[in-house]
Amino acid sequence: MSKYQAFESATLPQDYKDSIIKMKRTLRAQIGDVDALFAQVSEFIRGEIASIKQQEASTGSGWPEIEFDDIVHGKVTAEQLALIKRRGCLVIRNHFPRDQVLSWEKGLLDYLDHNQFDRVYRGPADTFFGSLEASRPEIFPIYWSVSQMQIRQHERMAAAQSFLNRLWKTDSQGQQWFDPDVNALYPDRVRRRPPGTNSKGLGPHTDSGALERWLHPAYLKAFDKIYSGDFESYDPWDAAYRPEVEEYAYKDTVKCSAFRTFQGWTALSDMRADQGVLHTLPIPKAMAYMLLRPLLDDVPEDELCGVAPGKVLPVSEQWHPLLVRGLTPIPDVQAGDSVWWHCDVIHSVAPVTNQEGWGNVMYVPAAPMCPKNRRYAQDVLKAFEKGASPDDFVREDYETTWADRFTTKDLNTIGRCGLGLE
Ligand SMILES: [Fe+2]
Repeated sequence: MSKYQAFESATLPQDYKDSIIKMKRTLRAQIGDVDALFAQVSEFIRGEIASIKQQEASTGSGWPEIEFDDIVHGKVTAEQLALIKRRGCLVIRNHFPRDQVLSWEKGLLDYLDHNQFDRVYRGPADTFFGSLEASRPEIFPIYWSVSQMQIRQHERMAAAQSFLNRLWKTDSQGQQWFDPDVNALYPDRVRRRPPGTNSKGLGPHTDSGALERWLHPAYLKAFDKIYSGDFESYDPWDAAYRPEVEEYAYKDTVKCSAFRTFQGWTALSDMRADQGVLHTLPIPKAMAYMLLRPLLDDVPEDELCGVAPGKVLPVSEQWHPLLVRGLTPIPDVQAGDSVWWHCDVIHSVAPVTNQEGWGNVMYVPAAPMCPKNRRYAQDVLKAFEKGASPDDFVREDYETTWADRFTTKDLNTIGRCGLGLE
């Protein structure tokens, strides 16, 4: 019988506030001195932020960087691997040749133009990224262009995803939790931000569940070391139970039905680090701070520092000032570089005024095959065959009638495996 049975729930509880009250009671009793544990975690984070700032001062960036060719030739050093695991994020330089991504970028634009996207676009269907003044969106709800599918099923993408998945401990608790060398093809959108853009950015948060991180049985097992007061032994790279998390269904918000080891995107344009780019808190173990903060006495008993069903997990100046201080921008990137961050890593997008140059990216995460991802791959396959929006996104279905989208006969072996066809 689970020690969390008083409040744990695989689906959104009817009275989730009551579950929060019971959760706090159970966890406080189990941890004992919550203040001391929180102080220990805070001390660790202060040390990590100092190390990040020091790296920034000496190398120009707090992010680890590796060359794609070093992945392929097994030349990533033990020191580089240790730094990637410590920071939980990285840039892969020259992941794709520049000419290749610029031709994908052009292919995508042609696809939008042939199909008169500007005329048919009905405006943002969700308000997650705020409203935009431009006639074109910033995030394009387009999934099935030849360009997007070619990058998803590219052997260089598969090689990087395997490398990233292998940073995780896949075998633990007597089970293999995912296959690091087969990746589910997770269709996501593209972002195209033109020069001159003014954007408020996006506040710091984490994805992959919010309330779930305290109430879902699989997350309670994944975070059991933290919830037992043993922060030292907590390993954010242990895959145990993570693919068993199912985000709570809530009205019709965007959610993620796949387990992702890393979220990521590939740059389709050069981007300077001061032009409203992605920031992370490069500390995967900072999740412990997020999880323990609501257990302190100054938070109302039925609240979790701003967590609400169907919303991302927010990081705020009010509740998490130490974490906000550590937010670190990506270095300057060139078209063809890719950027990756661990699924627990806090991230934000900085505001920008009169952006210089383009800010174009294709979102392609690492989602290794496991029962959860195989299930979602079946839904993805159906959407792909129809040219419909994938189940995780708002049903906008722009592409169903578009003639030149990527088709089944264009799939290679990686694509077929990624859709669960092989
Ligand atoms: Fe996010």
